[in-house]
Amino acid sequence: MANSVQGSVSHYYSEVLKKTDDLKTNACKTSGRPPQHIIDAINKVSPEVNAKYYGCGLCIPEELEGRTVLDLGCGSGRDVYIASQFVGENGHVIGVDMTKDQIDVAIAGEEFNKCTNNLSNTTFKHGYIEKLSELGIEKNSVDVIISNCVINLSPDKFSVLKGAYDLLKPGGELYFSDVYADRRVPQNLRENKELWGECISGALYWNDFVGMAKKAGFLDPRLVSDSVITVDNPTLEKLCGNIKFFSATYRLFKIPDLETHCEDYGQAVIYNGGMERSEFSFKLDDHHEIETGKVFGVCGNTWKMLHDTRFKKFFTFIGDFSTHYGIYDGCGTSLPFASAKNEGAGGGGGGGGGCC
Ligand SMILES: C[S@@+](CC[C@H](N)C(=O)[O-])C[C@H]1O[C@@H](n2cnc3c(N)ncnc32)[C@H](O)[C@@H]1O
Repeated sequence: MANSVQGSVSHYYSEVLKKTDDLKTNACKTSGRPPQHIIDAINKVSPEVNAKYYGCGLCIPEELEGRTVLDLGCGSGRDVYIASQFVGENGHVIGVDMTKDQIDVAIAGEEFNKCTNNLSNTTFKHGYIEKLSELGIEKNSVDVIISNCVINLSPDKFSVLKGAYDLLKPGGELYFSDVYADRRVPQNLRENKELWGECISGALYWNDFVGMAKKAGFLDPRLVSDSVITVDNPTLEKLCGNIKFFSATYRLFKIPDLETHCEDYGQAVIYNGGMERSEFSFKLDDHHEIETGKVFGVCGNTWKMLHDTRFKKFFTFIGDFSTHYGIYDGCGTSLPFASAKNEGAGGGGGGGGGCC
């Protein structure tokens, strides 16, 4: 075992937790009802795989057909098998996890996927997400990296993000759900193995995460959705005191020439429709829901997130980068989690977005 944190996390996910119901808090549980297409896909995943689901969010983005997807910390493989159905027979999904018991359940699910969905498009790797370069996956070869409630568990989160950046194709994205805190979690809580294993005390302070993601090359992290984690365990809640935790889904594009802020070049896009399940609008992030047929003003970074990625064919692009009009109006850096306001948490008067 490479590291004592990894050792105790692996022990937690093989010996302490045997099924979803064994969780001691609600941090590794997904709140709310997934959309119908995800429910339909879950119903076509092996029951043994579903019984060991410990994810905190929904990290299956749009437009996956024919793509190569990598799941960091896939566990028993639920999201791998959901993604398998969306990438289809011309795509491929790779799952990586360090816990042998989890990977064994995931591999056993391949037979079910073949019988139920007629799909043999998955590969599982037993390994560490901090050492993605050692897994035999080529650099610049992956379209979409997903991860569900895992990176908080890593003792070296920067290596995970940097390794993910290297494996992504230019224009690819890391689309992942994880747990964040509204402040830095103190050392005494970080040493509590149960709180760490439950995806709580390893959580990054959201603003440290944003800085780390930028340093790894993901220059403009976009928040897609978030919700408050209530912990739901009086003993552990007491230990956490005033710290607030959030489950959040971010999308991080590998677009090397993104700017660190949202700049205004007077550009706009029109979403022409055509993306499956996005007939009336396309949601890029929590503050860009782009209605079909409407001229929608965007900053330079948003323009590139639509133009330099798999989404390009669905859009008409208006303008270029020849004239700069200053910072994009409303670009803020305050606490981005809209759900904090419902909870009365602090964070200033930001506009509810990571940027612009
Ligand atoms: C909370 S569970 C989530 C599993 C899966 N994503 C799901 O949604 O069911 C965390 C998983 O991450 C794996 N994991 C944690 N740290 C890891 C690391 N450093 N390298 C590889 N896997 C890791 C654990 O073994 C465990 O299976």
